[in-house]
Amino acid sequence: MAASIVVFGSLNMDLMVRVARAPRAGETLYGLGFLTNPGGKGANQAVACARQGARVAMVGCVGEDGFGEALSNALASDGVDVADVRSVEGSTGVAVVMVDAQGENRITIVPGANALLKARAEALAGQFLLLQCEVPMAEVVLAARFMHAQGATVVMNPAPVCQLPDELWPLIDIIVMNEIEAAELAGLPVGDPANAAVAASAIRKRGPSTAIVTLGSQGVVLADDDGCRHFPAIQVQVVDTTAAGDTFIGAMCAARAAGASMDAAVMRGIQAATICVTRPGAQASIPYLHELARP
Ligand code: RIB
Repeated sequence: MAASIVVFGSLNMDLMVRVARAPRAGETLYGLGFLTNPGGKGANQAVACARQGARVAMVGCVGEDGFGEALSNALASDGVDVADVRSVEGSTGVAVVMVDAQGENRITIVPGANALLKARAEALAGQFLLLQCEVPMAEVVLAARFMHAQGATVVMNPAPVCQLPDELWPLIDIIVMNEIEAAELAGLPVGDPANAAVAASAIRKRGPSTAIVTLGSQGVVLADDDGCRHFPAIQVQVVDTTAAGDTFIGAMCAARAAGASMDAAVMRGIQAATICVTRPGAQASIPYLHELARP
């Protein structure tokens, strides 16, 4: 059966180091722990969709190496269709992730095979398309064009943050940003729900009918034709914020694909991301649908 959600994006192997604090320039510190874990914003979002019960296909590239095989196998074991995850010459993408005592991360990515991803019309069919900025932007635009023309809902996560090309904006239906991304794209300060709502409304004028700003412990702001709404966060002890945004997006899209209202989908995203931040790692931390029902 065809996927209802297609993710066109990156796969990285995350090399995660837990530290008490980030080292200063020239300083050597002992880490508190190390984890090798499948990641990549695209693959994380695909896993988040799949663990919420959606039919999802990943379109991406890995290198012909052990990391590439491990990343494809990890997606497949989550039920993600990997027929369009291609092995190409060279290294699989990697991310060096440093997580401090507050659970905040600092990530450096080396794209490797992700830089070779191409948008092919035959791999791009479904009801939703999820896009990020860890693969070539020209191909992101092409993928959006293909699936917008089919009437799919195009969901853009402008991460890592960059200015989006003019031709992409009219193809985006839903844009999901953290506060740094929203501030950069709107050219406005974003740090609380009130100014996030101003930024979201400004960004809607560029094309997307729905703009969402995730604010961590301050919750989520949603702006659409029904106005701006603020959804409070669920307060928990944060262990690692890695993949929290990806988990929010995947769970929100899976809920929309299953017919939930936008508000209900945002609440599902918040529930899933809340569980994600209480666990270490990227894909290792993404919850399953049955976990969301727990008190
Ligand atoms: O969003 C988190 C992800 O960003 C990590 O898994 C890392 O691979 C980078 O892509």
